[in-house]
Amino acid sequence: DKAGFRHFMAKEIAEQPAVITRTLDAYLDNGRIDLPAPGLDFNTLDRLTLVACGTGHYACYTAKYWFEALARIPVDIDVASEFRYREPPLDPASAALFVSQSGETADTLAALRYCKGKISTIGAVVNVTESSIARDSDLVFPIHAGAEIGVASTKAFTCQLVVLLLLALEAARQRGTLTEEEVTGRLTELRALPGLINHALALEERIGRLARRVAEARDVLFLGRGAMYPLALEGALKMKEISYIHAEAYASGELKHGPIALIDEHVPVVVMAPTDTLFDKTVSNMQEVMARGGRVLLITDAEGASAAGDGVWETLILPEVAPFLAPILHAIPVQLLAYHTAVEKGTDVDQPRNLAKSVTVE
Ligand code: F6R
Repeated sequence: DKAGFRHFMAKEIAEQPAVITRTLDAYLDNGRIDLPAPGLDFNTLDRLTLVACGTGHYACYTAKYWFEALARIPVDIDVASEFRYREPPLDPASAALFVSQSGETADTLAALRYCKGKISTIGAVVNVTESSIARDSDLVFPIHAGAEIGVASTKAFTCQLVVLLLLALEAARQRGTLTEEEVTGRLTELRALPGLINHALALEERIGRLARRVAEARDVLFLGRGAMYPLALEGALKMKEISYIHAEAYASGELKHGPIALIDEHVPVVVMAPTDTLFDKTVSNMQEVMARGGRVLLITDAEGASAAGDGVWETLILPEVAPFLAPILHAIPVQLLAYHTAVEKGTDVDQPRNLAKSVTVE
């Protein structure tokens, strides 16, 4: 049931404030993090490994920044198809989390099975709790996104991010890298996120108009720094899978090491730059793009918009948000841009060509 929306994807994008609230309700008890029993002891872990495919991998990539910055745990990430055949040496004092919406992705399941008996704990971050990946894990962390029908993952992505962020905050609390008060403060900010996402969703009309121009492009580039880099990767994936426009993502600092050669007036460059400690660096990369005629679509906040200066093609202004939450909030305009570009192109948004919702063969 599309509930009056034109596509499941549109419905699932719009549902995010509600489903994220549900995820938070499931993991927070009286303002404290309450993990499914028996919980996870982060003090005994030397490292953490995060494995997934596709969008789940980008959720893991974002979480690497959180676990490392907040809890000071070294994190290894990989796509499951590489991990399983590389057969990496594993630290027995480590845990691995396998992130999968369906819980049935063949490569992710094989990667999980490779870890069995080699590490202390195997955890599943899944939407479908009655799934192979959940069954084969010691611990299951449901994301509570509800059924996701659109092939392009949207609400499962943001709910994966929320659960991974809660785990990183719990790790920080246990390891004492954040005080109880600091964790409580972050949780209060997280509680406000669904409201901010509603503001982001209100940009839909603007994004729909922008998408008409983006739909004419042959290539689109996505740039971000820090935890916004994995979101750039996710933005490019979303764009290519439903609009069939070639899209690539780079860490902003990598621009001058190659991809800047692609820039001309035909290539829209989506720059994700919330006001944070890396903002000035991203803006200077953006200026390099504009100096070569590139059309920059800047996604930022009000402060970032006024600091960015002239020459930006279009700016989307999101509400102000704590930097650690920016990757989740910025996911919304990125999803809407891919969605409306695909609608503009007339593709089969919910069932893009060559793709399946659950990839149970490798
Ligand atoms: C992209 C997308 C895919 C899946 C990937 C993993 O929008 O949906 O990249 O993320 O196939 O699927 P799950 O999460 O079910 O293991």
